Amino acid sequence: MLLGIESSCDDTAAAVLEGETVRSSVVSSQADLHEAYGGVVPELASRNHQRLIVPVVQKALSEAGAEPDDLDAVAVTVGPGLPGSLLVGLSFGKAFARSLDVPLVGVNHLEGHLYSVDIEAPRPPRPYLCLIVSGGHTELVLVEEDFQHTVLGRTRDDAAGEAFDKVAQLFGLGYPGGPEIDERAQRGDPSFHDFPRSRLDGFDFSFSGLKTSVLYHLRDFSDAEREQLFADHRDDLCASFQAAVVDVLVDAVRRAADETGAAHVAVVGGVAANRELRTRVETAGSEDGFAVHVPDFRYCMDNAAMIATAGRLRLDAGFTAPPTVDIDSGLGLSGEG
Ligand code: KG4
Ligand code: ZN
Repeated sequence: MLLGIESSCDDTAAAVLEGETVRSSVVSSQADLHEAYGGVVPELASRNHQRLIVPVVQKALSEAGAEPDDLDAVAVTVGPGLPGSLLVGLSFGKAFARSLDVPLVGVNHLEGHLYSVDIEAPRPPRPYLCLIVSGGHTELVLVEEDFQHTVLGRTRDDAAGEAFDKVAQLFGLGYPGGPEIDERAQRGDPSFHDFPRSRLDGFDFSFSGLKTSVLYHLRDFSDAEREQLFADHRDDLCASFQAAVVDVLVDAVRRAADETGAAHVAVVGGVAANRELRTRVETAGSEDGFAVHVPDFRYCMDNAAMIATAGRLRLDAGFTAPPTVDIDSGLGLSGEG
């Protein structure tokens, strides 16, 4: 059995894998704590990881019906992420692996997202094209084989999830904003307002223009008018904004699938939980002839089952971490410039 640990941002998570099967996956979200600040406060996140790491690991072991001695490896996120948060998971993982005398595997959080589509069958055969869309990252990656990736494009400013969160704030919604925009957009009219779709050369993304356009649109109203607009059309605004993001993402996926000839496309990360994005990529796949792989909802947002799965792949490929392994808060995917 392998224990996976994830603490790169504001979720403290642990999971136990037996072979390739997830025996338990526990996520303790700190979202409520950070909501009052409209985003993650690094110092608070780090302190809460310290408080939560032991109970979360204990819960993952007990839900898996496992004892520490049943573990044959520990996999832990080493980056990218918030330094203070990463340190808690890595320090715990190192000490735990050392005390059990089992190998420690260092996992790149982005590889965790990439291989989150391997958690449940059917697993995509390699090569596959993967769109990582989360709160911290937006990258379009060709996974040639395990641990061999070509990054085709990435965001030049905000990540897709970040855009959802910032625009949700402009719409007077809570944090994180993605799930609520998704919910409201179901009831809204996407053609209510035509927000801009930015298309850059190649496969890079930019969402800051869209965010600014939402800001300017709302600024044209007096406070009273804006309140009325929200009362009458908040769901329509959510649907219109979401349509702009999804159009840009789906357009890039289609072009990249066409250019690379990819027969399999995966969408992963927190924003992959977005229902409109899932539906639109599925439709694009049936029209263009590529198979679509999207993780179960619980494996889109940060979790440790994906870290354990990537860790198992790394271990099987013979990569283990030396006792001196350190966090790398700016770690990228191999193949990134
Ligand atoms: O992968 P994740 O849990 O953390 C990072 O690695 O960043 O992603 C969190 C992001 C947040 O920005 C959140 O607003 C967004 O995923 N998100 C969504 C949805 N669920 C979560 N965005 C759009 N629609 C959703 N249903
Ligand atoms: Zn993530």
